[in-house]
Amino acid sequence: MTVTNLETPIKKHVLLAICGGIAAYKSAELVRLLRKQGCEVRVVMTHSAREFVSPLTFQALSGNPVHTELLDVEEENAMGHINLARWADVLVIAPATANTIAKCAHGLADDLVSTLFLAATCPVYMAPAMNQAMWNKTITQENIRQLEGCEVLFIGPNAGDQACGETGKGRMAEPAEICQRLLLESKSDILQGVKVLISAGPTREYIDPVRYITNRSSGKMGFALARAASRAGAQVSLVSGPVNLQPPPHLDVIHVETAAQMYDAVISRASKTDIYIGAAAVADYSPRVMEKEKVKKKDSLTTLLLHKTKDILADVAQLKNAPFTVGFAAETNDLAAYAQAKLSGKKLDMIAANWVGREQGGFDSNQNALEIFWKNGKASLPMTDKNQLAEQLINLITTRFNEKNRI
Ligand code: PMT
Repeated sequence: MTVTNLETPIKKHVLLAICGGIAAYKSAELVRLLRKQGCEVRVVMTHSAREFVSPLTFQALSGNPVHTELLDVEEENAMGHINLARWADVLVIAPATANTIAKCAHGLADDLVSTLFLAATCPVYMAPAMNQAMWNKTITQENIRQLEGCEVLFIGPNAGDQACGETGKGRMAEPAEICQRLLLESKSDILQGVKVLISAGPTREYIDPVRYITNRSSGKMGFALARAASRAGAQVSLVSGPVNLQPPPHLDVIHVETAAQMYDAVISRASKTDIYIGAAAVADYSPRVMEKEKVKKKDSLTTLLLHKTKDILADVAQLKNAPFTVGFAAETNDLAAYAQAKLSGKKLDMIAANWVGREQGGFDSNQNALEIFWKNGKASLPMTDKNQLAEQLINLITTRFNEKNRI
């Protein structure tokens, strides 16, 4: 991958924290790429990072002294970490080891990198690098989820051959990929002052107190959109069905369970919002009655009477003061045809269609790909991390929204 040169170089202060992993050598290339794009780079290293690459390498490449100690006697007030945190426009931890990720997830601050993470008020990115078994360990994944809930943005890791001889997910993302993400996501005021309402996750339609009908959805796509819209400066409200994700801080999050509750939560807010994005997998059918007590097997319930739930998306688009309305279409076949039928049938401004039920992308996965349709136009967003995809979709929505409002 090559980094697209930006017409106007971004004079960004990038604070690069390097942890102890073999991928530390790749961070030298990252410094070079960032400087080429006009960024000023300062480097901090953990003690173990210095076992892999010498601070001198990063001093030469960044043109700045490298920081390694928490309490720096050379700093006037011995508070180098606070000064560095204030200086940074963005903090990127690359490579981020399982150890540093765990420390950051639990608020520990026993070295310069973990203390900087706590002191930083700027956006924080992490590019994890570790053995595939360590990456897949439940505790590491829980730490990642915890950090995502604190608005940390993850780049990678990628899958492939590892330095330890194993194959799997855990390779640090390539420097060009990290650089591109940092630069593209820096234009973050495109939705300043715009109100965005997003629905995410599944709904549960109860048969009795212990059983329900639901759709597959982890909420990851909707939550990524909420984070991306918020980073673009929007005032975001997120209506979420039951999911196992940390809600992003500083957002108005409304928790619902059933399709009827989601309908009320969305419709009551929709005419006061500028953009509505329906990423939720709302159940299309709900039991006609919810039994008050658990149905016993001996009662042999074999027929379930259902009624259709109200279509939230279609009703939002028909409001008198309808927002710019973006739907999703989850399809297992004839993606384009079904998506276009939903676009015109529900009178939407835009629809984002994804394949579901395949090995890659769709629900649960961290990755997805989208085919976007609007009146007289379409775009393809190839398979990538849902956070990055959300950023791209928010950019597209903003362009169409501005055109509609002739800004
Ligand atoms: O949550 P993840 O695990 O990250 O997975 C993401 C996703 C696959 C769930 C997401 O990308 C997605 O496709 N969401 C829409 C799923 C869906 O219900 O698609 P649909 O084609 O059945 O519905 C079309 C549109 O109508 C959707 O915008 C849906 O929110 C909306 N709808 C559907 C029924 C209903 N009663 N009310 C609605 O508003």
